[in-house]
Amino acid sequence: MNNGKKIKGLAVVFGAFLLLTGCGAKEQSGSETAPVQQFETEMDENLIAVGFSQVGAESDWRAANTESIQSALTPENGFYLIYEDAQQKQENQFKAIRNFILQEVDYIVLSPIVENGWDTVLQEAKDAGIPVILVDRKAQVDEDLYTCWIGADFESEGRRAGEWLEQYLKEQGRADEEINIVTLQGTLDSSAQLGRTEGFAEVMAEHDNWNMLEMRDADFTQAKGQEVMESLLQKYDDIDVVVSENDNMAFGAVDAIQEAGRSCGPDGEITILSFDAVRAVFDAMLSGEINVSFECNPLHGPKLQEIIKTLENGGSVDKIQYMEETYFDTDMDLEELQKTRAY
Ligand code: AHR
Repeated sequence: MNNGKKIKGLAVVFGAFLLLTGCGAKEQSGSETAPVQQFETEMDENLIAVGFSQVGAESDWRAANTESIQSALTPENGFYLIYEDAQQKQENQFKAIRNFILQEVDYIVLSPIVENGWDTVLQEAKDAGIPVILVDRKAQVDEDLYTCWIGADFESEGRRAGEWLEQYLKEQGRADEEINIVTLQGTLDSSAQLGRTEGFAEVMAEHDNWNMLEMRDADFTQAKGQEVMESLLQKYDDIDVVVSENDNMAFGAVDAIQEAGRSCGPDGEITILSFDAVRAVFDAMLSGEINVSFECNPLHGPKLQEIIKTLENGGSVDKIQYMEETYFDTDMDLEELQKTRAY
């Protein structure tokens, strides 16, 4: 597919784009020609140009995901990567995709912040003949608007969380007690939020004694997790379980719980279930603040690299590609497991 023919044009157009928008590392230099020269000298005609529109930098998971993709799609591996951080805004992703089209990249990699609203812009990429690879979250569009998707089975993560709680309550002799639950949801309409909410709800439906007091959007960030948890603690004094749809919101929830003079974790009043299993949650589990975290593997870089190379060689790839995942709780040897944790 790519043979490097677009790269020179890309260098000039991208340089011009930087000048027009005022973006880029050299924007303060005062030299109008610096960005173009910089890209012309750095480009290698044989590199595969990839535009990557990332959601943002809202969580530890996201940082690990960005790092994985950036360290796989390097010039040494044959790629020229244009990275755009959308700062959690879909309109910024639209702009990034349109700029990638203008730059005539060879591939667009998109992690869609939400599932809906992508038809027009992905049709534009298709009309321009640029393959789109979705990573992490899904987009509700016709299948022919993207080449493939790599990511987690969010629904099964949510189900696994419900099943874990079921087993935990049984072991505590609380299987028949009334259990009051609150959920800190991730960005609404994102695949991770939809899947985890849906999967947990399936198990919840089997338990009449589990009451969902409230589900609130905390946008996958620690600050919002804390803010929302503070308000939930003011409203309800009988919360037994917090389901936090990622680790960063769980860290915020722990702060709110402790500041309210309450306790959480295996020896506390409130059980906390979380998702992602980033390195920092191992510390929180080891210090007894969080009970369990369901892994969501962010290391998409190597798989993405392999997919693009396969496509470049004229091969075909599976449309849907799930990452392998597990979970970690305080019954495990977390100190040992943490030593080899990659993110
Ligand atoms: O889409 C994956 C989710 O997005 C991760 O669980 C969360 O941490 C991130 O922000």
